Amino acid sequence: MERGSFFTLICFLLLVFSHLEFSQEAHVLAVGGLVSDGQTLVSALQTFELGFFSPGKSRNRYLGIWYKNSPEAVVWVANRNNPIADRNGILTVSDSGNLVLLNRTKSVVWSSNVSGTAKPPVAVARLLDTGNLVLKDNKSKPESYLWESFDSPSDTLLAGMKIGWNLKTGEERYLTSWRSVDDPSPGNFTYRLDITGLPQLVIGRGLKKMYRTGPWNGIGFGAVPAVPDLVFKPTVISNENEIYYTFKTVGDTINMRLRLNQSGYLQRLLSDRGSDRWGVLYSVPFDQCGSYGFCGANSVCSTRRPDTCKCIQGFIPESQWSTNCVRESSLDCQKGEGFLRLVGVKVPDLSKLYSNENLNPEQCAAECLKNCSCTAYANLSVSDGHTSCLMWFGDLVDISEVSEVYRGEDVFIRLPSSSLVLPGDSSTRNRLTVIILVSIISGLIILGLVVFIIWRKSRKRDQSLYLTRLEGGKDESEVPLFDLSSIEIATDNFSFRNLIGKGGFGPVYKGNLPTGQEIAVKRLSKDSGQGVEQFTNEVVLIAKLQHRNLVGLLGCCIQGEERMLIYEYMPNKSLDCLIFDHKRRAQLSWKNRFDIVLGIARGLLYLHQDSKLQIIHRDLKVSNILLGSNYIPKISDFGLARIIGGNDEETTTSRVVGTYGYMAPEYAVDGTFSVKSDVFSFGVVLLEIVSGKRNRGYNHPDHRNNLLGHAWLLWNEDRALELMDTVLEESCVKSEVLRFIHVGLLCVQESPEDRPPMSSVLVKLTNEEATLPPPKQPGFFIQREPGDSFSAIRTTTMLTENEVTISVLEAR
Ligand SMILES: *[C@@H]1O[C@H](CO)[C@@H](O)[C@H](O)[C@H]1NC(C)=O
Ligand SMILES: *[C@@H]1O[C@H](CO)[C@@H](O)[C@H](O)[C@H]1NC(C)=O
Ligand SMILES: *[C@@H]1O[C@H](CO)[C@@H](O)[C@H](O)[C@H]1NC(C)=O
Ligand SMILES: *[C@@H]1O[C@H](CO)[C@@H](O)[C@H](O)[C@H]1NC(C)=O
Ligand SMILES: *[C@@H]1O[C@H](CO)[C@@H](O)[C@H](O)[C@H]1NC(C)=O
Ligand SMILES: *[C@@H]1O[C@H](CO)[C@@H](O)[C@H](O)[C@H]1NC(C)=O
Ligand SMILES: *[C@@H]1O[C@H](CO)[C@@H](O)[C@H](O)[C@H]1NC(C)=O
Repeated sequence: MERGSFFTLICFLLLVFSHLEFSQEAHVLAVGGLVSDGQTLVSALQTFELGFFSPGKSRNRYLGIWYKNSPEAVVWVANRNNPIADRNGILTVSDSGNLVLLNRTKSVVWSSNVSGTAKPPVAVARLLDTGNLVLKDNKSKPESYLWESFDSPSDTLLAGMKIGWNLKTGEERYLTSWRSVDDPSPGNFTYRLDITGLPQLVIGRGLKKMYRTGPWNGIGFGAVPAVPDLVFKPTVISNENEIYYTFKTVGDTINMRLRLNQSGYLQRLLSDRGSDRWGVLYSVPFDQCGSYGFCGANSVCSTRRPDTCKCIQGFIPESQWSTNCVRESSLDCQKGEGFLRLVGVKVPDLSKLYSNENLNPEQCAAECLKNCSCTAYANLSVSDGHTSCLMWFGDLVDISEVSEVYRGEDVFIRLPSSSLVLPGDSSTRNRLTVIILVSIISGLIILGLVVFIIWRKSRKRDQSLYLTRLEGGKDESEVPLFDLSSIEIATDNFSFRNLIGKGGFGPVYKGNLPTGQEIAVKRLSKDSGQGVEQFTNEVVLIAKLQHRNLVGLLGCCIQGEERMLIYEYMPNKSLDCLIFDHKRRAQLSWKNRFDIVLGIARGLLYLHQDSKLQIIHRDLKVSNILLGSNYIPKISDFGLARIIGGNDEETTTSRVVGTYGYMAPEYAVDGTFSVKSDVFSFGVVLLEIVSGKRNRGYNHPDHRNNLLGHAWLLWNEDRALELMDTVLEESCVKSEVLRFIHVGLLCVQESPEDRPPMSSVLVKLTNEEATLPPPKQPGFFIQREPGDSFSAIRTTTMLTENEVTISVLEAR
């Protein structure tokens, strides 16, 4: 009994004692002060903690820094090579002013190793909230450190840390993976800034390159997901003293770390401040094509094709067993050689940099032609605003196609003229396009077939395109981050009853916030890897847009694997549920439709002209118009939207995505899109709203025209009013209906130049006095029959010859 209570007392004392020891938290360590095993140093805002730990199953003790909320997330280790076998380690500031780690016998196991100054400084060590352990002279300025842990990274890069070179001393900082989960000693992989050519980050294994990001282009790396702005901003700083890569996070609600793991993957991890759950924002290499040189020399890697490795045009496989490709006919270095343009690729690795900032692309090409060993050139952006003429000599290694979101670049491959007859080269491509446009009818039918075939294929693979080129968007946008648990509560744990729709990239749920506000939650399917980029595209874009006729983004949620967009809830669902429904369409009177059309026009005008950025929606369609209260139309779904620079710029994409039936001809055929391709889609939407019929799949007993063709026929026979939805007969104002049809036809004219800009569309719709020019023939007015007797072989050839892929997303 007595012995029992004595024992309890001991336990109690031990508990109190150990508790006291643990609660001795401080972030400053002065001379003579010490951190012994069991004690920790905590940064001022409780973000990071320094102390002793044993990784995984190991019993060795290491001194490390980790997130206070998630001790598993160790970001730095001091004595990586020199573990302490017992719990008697001590960290202290020595008399010489160094930070030293001592073992039981007081031998130095690790030291900050600052070379002794004449007079030992009164040094203090401090753990900062950035995760940096710094040693400074008590007297010196706040920002000048004698030593800092950021200078000797382990396997983790935190915001503000650098990877790169001190050009004065030749000293290099880089990440080294742990050997294993149980052993933080340097493993086989490194992550370093390669500066032999243009700066690029490389995952290496010994001297072997395993993965490279592609060159830095002033905004990002050629082939790294372009997620910046929203959550983090990468930079490469280069001056005469140093060159390094670093990043900073945007806002202060998240923690981010970049970790090179034991298997040689670089993961960008993210968690909410205060949470211990980490999600992988992305990791590289993410597919085979990420493996350095997976495809051998002179070939292009793409996992989007069944034949992952393909020789560059003009090259053939070296042998049956080799992945290397060699020239079909060798360069004779005579006149008549030209260049093949590879669009949107990770450019070949440069073993030696030859660049000249003062050459324009034509001069660059000429320069390359002058030197017989030049095999390719590119006009690359090398830093903010500076472009350079780059040349390659010899074999071209590690080229891969990157989806546009990864900011691929264009490379021009030198070929003898005999190899240049086919596509790729823009001039031949344009000529082809012209031919197609001239043979309108047959061309369109073939195209329809191509679209149909690709569409059927793409439905299986959900191949889609998304773009996050943010040239215009320099300003940081902060989107409120929602907590996963609050979304779970709001949607009743994503209950089936709250499911209100299914978008291309995952389900949409209705939810109620505790404030009473109704929200719509678009939850990205976990398995839709591509959705992540589309997600960020949408968030970044919409966050910058505020307009009554655009759907409002309330925030997003990035937690663990979950990625969600939170919108204002639209009680009336989307316009297509009303307008194409044979019962419900009567709900919408002429006045309603009039206002809806004007609202859409205003929203689109805002996108095109009035917002800070000029944005092309690229997927305007009736099902993307949501209806708020009082049927206020809101344009939604910016997953494909694209910011363009400058005024009225036309841009070309090699991958056309949109919805069949709404795509302008120049966009569908040769990938050129501009605000005028949105105007075309608007015209289709307008005519659909007036007629209550879908353009796509429209059928008429007398002819094979689609809705546009039908409208055009009626217009020429002066019977345009017959296009109007019959349920509008009572509520309509005939002059308005006619004017709307007239404007609709102007918008869908074949040639983009003929179509009015949105500002003029709005004037024409609302102003009764406006004189309207007679419309010309609409583009794409013939109904395409997928069953038509054109051979599939022909269409496939056409497709490859054009290098235009058309994938069409099913109407959502
Ligand atoms: C302390 O470290 C020294 C030098 O690394 C080593 O020789 C010695 O064995 C260590 N002592 C203990 C008890 O681990
Ligand atoms: C300290 O620096 C010296 C010389 O610069 C070096 O030889 C030694 O290995 C270093 N010690 C530690 C613990 O890093
Ligand atoms: C730094 O030096 C000042 C006097 O110069 C002293 O008051 C202060 O306590 C010192 N701080 C530490 C952490 O040693
Ligand atoms: C590092 O590479 C060597 C040689 O390839 C291999 O034997 C060893 O197992 C690797 N170590 C780790 C930790 O993967
Ligand atoms: C390393 O990262 C990759 C990619 O995120 C992951 O699949 C793998 O499991 C990780 N390996 C370890 C040992 O954590
Ligand atoms: C190519 O060069 C031209 C003229 O020097 C420049 O304006 C353009 O931005 C460059 N293009 C790229 C992609 O860097
Ligand atoms: C071609 O370029 C290479 C690499 O810069 C150079 O070594 C060689 O001298 C050049 N040849 C000629 C003929 O200019």
